[in-house]
Amino acid sequence: MLIDSHCHLDRIDLSPYENDFSCFMQETAVQQIEHLLCIAIDLESYPAMLELVAGFQQISVTVGVHPNVQDCKDPSVDELIALGQHDNVIGIGETGLDYFRSEGDLSWQHQRLRNHINAAKTLKKPLIIHTREAKKDTLRILKEEGAGEVGGIIHCFTEDWDFAQQAMDLNFYISFSGIVTFNNATVIKEVAKKIPADRFLIETDSPYLAPVPFRGRPNYPTYVRYVAEQIAELRGVSVNKIADLSTKNFYDLFKL
Ligand code: NI
Repeated sequence: MLIDSHCHLDRIDLSPYENDFSCFMQETAVQQIEHLLCIAIDLESYPAMLELVAGFQQISVTVGVHPNVQDCKDPSVDELIALGQHDNVIGIGETGLDYFRSEGDLSWQHQRLRNHINAAKTLKKPLIIHTREAKKDTLRILKEEGAGEVGGIIHCFTEDWDFAQQAMDLNFYISFSGIVTFNNATVIKEVAKKIPADRFLIETDSPYLAPVPFRGRPNYPTYVRYVAEQIAELRGVSVNKIADLSTKNFYDLFKL
């Protein structure tokens, strides 16, 4: 059985499923996906996201505001704590730093990340971290705010082994997305080979970043198998082994 540790279910294209979310969820069961973590991007779309996934026991959610969302309500620590208290909310994020898509004075991103870390520590729930071209500052802020207390996930991993090691030292798991299937992802493939068996997760980040052979097309949690297959090939083990390990790691991290 597989777990998609990072997807945006309120953004996937349901047209192949007659625009029926439960119809799509039936397909995830057929594809042996036993759990999905639906990740929040902003607070404006949050109530509708909760409504969409309500009633599906195999879906957990997070709450947070993505570092690239700018024209939005910036959550205070208290707001994040209030929203994050619910049982179905198992993590805080996605949050982090992104110097690729945002420019100028990004101190607001830093403050937003700090707020998420502090809420996560109060709630004792793991963090979902997005980082892009911001390696140094991400690690620095995680350290300064004591994020290691709750740990979490470096999602959609695109860094090198040095970063992976420093993140693992801070109690974080490394989650591989469809990017690991891309031909030019040499450095990420190296990390997937070396990562300790008890420290990695798999995800789709759907509807973005579809794995090969769907690259450039809409992504679905049902494609998480392609990520598992790639990691299995790199490590010279069976897909079932990768499925079992990543599933166990997910439950260990979130204490489910
Ligand atoms: Ni995401």
